[in-house]
Amino acid sequence: ASPPRYTFVVEETPYKRLCSTKNILTVNGQFPGQTMYVHAGDTIVVDIYNKGNRNITIHWHGVKQPRNPWSDGPDYITQCPIQPGAKFTQTIIFSSEEGTLWWHAHSEWDRATVHGAIVIYPKKGATYPFPKPHAEFPIILGEWWKEDIGQLYSEMIQSGGDANTSTAFLINGQPGDLYPCSKPDTFKLKVVSGETYLLRLINSVVQEMMFFAIANHKVTVVGSDASYTKPFLTDYVTISPGQTIDLLLIADQIPNNYYIAAKAYSAGAGVPYDNTTTTAILLYQGNSNSSPTSLPNIPSHNDTKASVHFTSKLKSLADKNHPVDVPHKITTHLFFTLSVNMLPCPNSSCAGPNGTRIAASVNNISFVNPTIDILQAYYYHVNGVFGTRFPNFPPLLFNFTAQHLPLYVLPAKRATEVKILEYNSMVEIVFQGTNIVDGDDHPMHLHGFNFYVVGWGFGNFDKDKDPLTYNLVDPPLQSTIAVPKNGWTTIRFKADNPGVWFMHCHTDRHMSWGLVMTFIVKDGKGLGAQMLPPPRGMPPC
Ligand code: C2O
Repeated sequence: ASPPRYTFVVEETPYKRLCSTKNILTVNGQFPGQTMYVHAGDTIVVDIYNKGNRNITIHWHGVKQPRNPWSDGPDYITQCPIQPGAKFTQTIIFSSEEGTLWWHAHSEWDRATVHGAIVIYPKKGATYPFPKPHAEFPIILGEWWKEDIGQLYSEMIQSGGDANTSTAFLINGQPGDLYPCSKPDTFKLKVVSGETYLLRLINSVVQEMMFFAIANHKVTVVGSDASYTKPFLTDYVTISPGQTIDLLLIADQIPNNYYIAAKAYSAGAGVPYDNTTTTAILLYQGNSNSSPTSLPNIPSHNDTKASVHFTSKLKSLADKNHPVDVPHKITTHLFFTLSVNMLPCPNSSCAGPNGTRIAASVNNISFVNPTIDILQAYYYHVNGVFGTRFPNFPPLLFNFTAQHLPLYVLPAKRATEVKILEYNSMVEIVFQGTNIVDGDDHPMHLHGFNFYVVGWGFGNFDKDKDPLTYNLVDPPLQSTIAVPKNGWTTIRFKADNPGVWFMHCHTDRHMSWGLVMTFIVKDGKGLGAQMLPPPRGMPPC
């Protein structure tokens, strides 16, 4: 049987939010876009028609796409963008993912409005490792700008400075009743007293990590990034851009209306952020009270302890049906510093600190997009598109207590360098936050893989002591993990997916400043160890 086929028409669509109407880029006219429903192991085909006026690509976030980087989507990494008027067909191959993921544009900041949920049910006949919920709801946290998002991006790149913050946060496309002109359309989650619900929380916010909570209700975390976790009860959730968290909610309070709310978490003291609160309403059936009870308690915007406290509670389910498979014998040790830093300004009037332009880097390399995609250059042996000497050395670390460091401490270098991995190598990456002037957490996302998060800590990584604290028993299996500001995080994965795979900070301005890098995983020998051939109709640059 041929796989199910879907049509995505990318087009400008008028949407009214916060008292005024503007055109936004959508898929099939919907914002947020449609939810895709699949079962673990399915394959689907999506025909994408670009009827908008900008170049675009679509990425299937967290879907490993075994041997098939051709349909992964990041522009200039695995494909050239789909130009206005053009069409591209993607084949999306699901394998072991189970839970919630999402799809989004992967060109400039188009994902602000071009995104939707992916619900991945267990294989037919299999069940959840928790009681069957009465109903399920995707809950997408989003962001709204009064400006045009494409223009905002270009302005930031041209000025060399920081970007404006958003005008509002959204829950399922709606700002909620604390914002002007928004009350009637506030998202309402209707529940029956005594029943259990599965909330599939997705952070599609472009620039911020988020805190999320429901007044008077605790929730049970059961999954993250399409992998099951050991259940734990919590008052609030921390969620990185890109990350998904599955929650069970029991409607066990006095039937009433309760606020659901989300706010930004921002670790950087001087980093601009949207400090508004988006709300939705948990509505018990049969309840006639019209106004919701008070807002839930949400940690304050710079409460790093609260943020990390939540994230460090994520553990793999690790039962007999969901065994963990953490690499033990590491063959490739990598140490990557993550920094927001500065570059000299080409015309000496940039909007960054002291007239510099803001940049961001991995191991001091601020990534520059090539003119054709890396996958194409790799597959067809086109020389001169990328270098293969991505550095693996710790650049200068420094005293995190110093307030103002000279700008020349960590000058980044602009380059397009990739790191080549042997097929089936056992990879460990230590991410070290080394932000200079004012840092922030970096939610690092890897395409093509899930990885085990085996450890984290504050300050500089200590290669003698810190590995002794690693959790090799039930570490969470993620595809996005927030590396704490001025701290470190260690991940492990087996490089068993041949192809070209992007890795980047999922905060889009950091990504646009160059906090990204690319892996090439070589083909292996034997059956099923090679990249698939390119499909027909890859878009040209
Ligand atoms: Cu959510 Cu590179 O992606």
